[in-house]
Amino acid sequence: MFYPEELVEEVRMKNDIVGVVSGYVRLQKKGSNHWGCCPFHNEKTPSFAVSESKQMFHCFGCGVSGNVYTFVMKYENYTFPEAIKLLAERAGVNLPELEYSDEMKKKANKRARLLEVNKEAAKFFYYQLRSPHGEIGHKYLEKRELSEETMHKFGLGYAGKNGTMLVEYLRGKGFEDSLIKEAGLANYSEKHGMSSQFWNRVMFPIQDINHRVIGFGGRVMGDGEPKYLNSPETPIFDKRRNLYGLNFARTARSGNLIICEGYMDVIAMHQAGFTQAVASLGTAFTSEQAMLLKRYTENVLLAYDSDGAGVKAALRGIGILREAGLTGKVINMKPYKDPDEFMKNLGKEAFQERIAQAENSFFFEIRILSEQYNMQDPEEKTRFHREIAKKLCEFQEDAERENYLQAIAEKYFIGIENLRKLMLGYAAQTGLAKPVERPKSGIQSKRTPEENGKRAQRLLITWLADEPALYEKINRYISAEDFTEDLYRKVTERLFSDLSQGNYNPAAIISMFEDEEEQREAAALFHTNLPELTTVQEREKAFHDILLAVKKNSYEYYTARLGTDVNALSQAVAAKKALEDMAKAHISLE
Ligand code: UTP
Ligand code: MN
Repeated sequence: MFYPEELVEEVRMKNDIVGVVSGYVRLQKKGSNHWGCCPFHNEKTPSFAVSESKQMFHCFGCGVSGNVYTFVMKYENYTFPEAIKLLAERAGVNLPELEYSDEMKKKANKRARLLEVNKEAAKFFYYQLRSPHGEIGHKYLEKRELSEETMHKFGLGYAGKNGTMLVEYLRGKGFEDSLIKEAGLANYSEKHGMSSQFWNRVMFPIQDINHRVIGFGGRVMGDGEPKYLNSPETPIFDKRRNLYGLNFARTARSGNLIICEGYMDVIAMHQAGFTQAVASLGTAFTSEQAMLLKRYTENVLLAYDSDGAGVKAALRGIGILREAGLTGKVINMKPYKDPDEFMKNLGKEAFQERIAQAENSFFFEIRILSEQYNMQDPEEKTRFHREIAKKLCEFQEDAERENYLQAIAEKYFIGIENLRKLMLGYAAQTGLAKPVERPKSGIQSKRTPEENGKRAQRLLITWLADEPALYEKINRYISAEDFTEDLYRKVTERLFSDLSQGNYNPAAIISMFEDEEEQREAAALFHTNLPELTTVQEREKAFHDILLAVKKNSYEYYTARLGTDVNALSQAVAAKKALEDMAKAHISLE
C-alpha cells in the first residue's frame, strides 16, 4: 500500500459509489439498490446493483464485485495508485507526492511494473525509428504515405536487427530480466541469452483507453513470417478486452465507431480524419470488445476487407454486435481491399459517402446469402426464401420482425404473405414461436462438502453485512478463525473487529486488498444470494443452519489438522463445545 490507510479511507468516503458509478452507467433506484446494465459483461436487463449503504457494487449476472476503487480500476483499466489519484482529484483531496525509492518500485504491483517496462520499450522503439538504425522502418512508413505527425500520434517505432540493444536499454533502466520476459519483450535462449522478441519490425504500440502501452504489434520488413507479430497475453494485455485506436476513438464524437481489421487501416483512417476507427488485436472481434464499444456508441460500422475472409469476419462481427444490443452496419470497400487502400485511391470524401451508404447488417447478411443461390432455379429460390424466413425468426420483437419482413419481401420481390407463411411455418415447426422451455434436469449439481462449507461461510458474511446487529448475538459462538479460507478469514477478522467497536464499513474492508481479483472475491462475500424467506421462524432456522454449517466445517477443518497445526487442538475443542452450545441455543432474529 502506497498511502496510509486513513487516507485511502478518506478518499473512498468522499466518493459516494452511486455518484461515481452514475458517471459511467445509467442507474435506477429500486429497493435498497441502484440498478443498471453491467458494464463488464453483455446484458440487456439490469443485474448490476450498486448499494449506497454498503458502498459496493455487485453484478448478479457475472459476479463482479467491489468498492469504488475496484470499479474505477476495472472500468479504466487502472492500477490501485492510478485509481486513488483519479478519485482524490474528483473529491478534492490532496495526495502527497510519493517519491518512489528503488525498493518501492520493486514492490509496486506487477501490473504497474509491466506498464512501466512497456512504456520504456515504446520509447526505445520510437527513438530507434528516428535514428539511422531505423531508416528501413521509416522509409517503409513513408512509402505507406504516413505523415510524420501520424507516426508520432500513434507512437510508431522500429525494432532493430540487433537483438540485445533493447534488453540492455531496459536493464539500464532498472528492469529485471524476468519482468522483461514476462512483458513478452524478450526471450531467453542458451545460445543468445536474452534477446528481443521483435526483430527488424515496424512497431505499433497498443494502448488502452487511457493511452498506456499494454502490448505491441510488429510488422515485418519485407516478406518474413508472420507478417504481424503481436505481444503475448500478459496480466496487462488481454486481447479480447482492448481495441487498437480506442484511446483516440472514444473522444471522436462522430456519433459512430468504425471497426477495421488491421492496425494500418486504423492509422490510415485517422490520418484522413476518421478518428472513430478501431481494430481488434490480431484476433477476431469479441463480445468483450462489443461491450467496450457500447460504452461510447450504439452505432458501429464495419469496415472489413472486401475479400472472402473479410465478409466472413463481418458476418461474425454482426452477430456479436447484435448480441450486445448494438446496431451494426457494413461499409462497402469495393473495388478496394481495405480502408487503407480505399483512402489512398478515392480519398476521404468518397469514404464519407460510403459511411452514409453503409448497409444495414441484416440486409448485408441476406445479400451475402442470396449470392449462394441461383434465382433462376425455382428449387434454389425456394430454399433461399426458407433461409430468409428462418433468419427473420431471430428477431425477438414483433414490430421489428414485421418491418424486416416487409423490407426484404420488397427487395427480393417475394410476396409478403408468402414470406410470412414461410416464417410462421418455420417458427411453429421448430417451436421458436413459443418461449423455449428449459429442460428439467433430474441431476441437481451436487456440491462437495468443502464447497458447502465455503458457501455457508459466504452466506454468513453476507447475512451479517445485511444485518450487522446480529453480530452481537453470535459472537460468543463464532470467530474469524472459523473462516477456513484465507481470504474469508482476513475479511472477517476486520469485519468482526469493526463490528465489535460499533463500526460497520464493509467497503473499507475491500480496500485492504490491492489486487483487483482479490477485491472482487472479497466484495462478493457481501453479496451472496441469501435464501428468500418470509416468516421469522423460517429465517431463524435458516440462519441457525448456516451458523451450524460454518462451525461444523471449522471443527472438521481443525480436526483434520491435529498434529500438524499447533492451534488445531484448541480450535477443534472450542468448536466442539460451541457446536454443542449452539444446538441448544435459540438465536432470535426479531
Ligand atoms: P492484414 O494482413 O489485413 O493486415 O491483417 P494489413 O493491415 O492489411 O497489413 P498491411 O497493410 O499489409 O501492412 C489484419 C490484421 O490482422 C492481424 C494484425 O492485427 C493485422 O493488422 N494479423 C495479420 C496478425 O496478427 N498476424 C499476421 O500475421 C497477420
Ligand atoms: Mn492492408
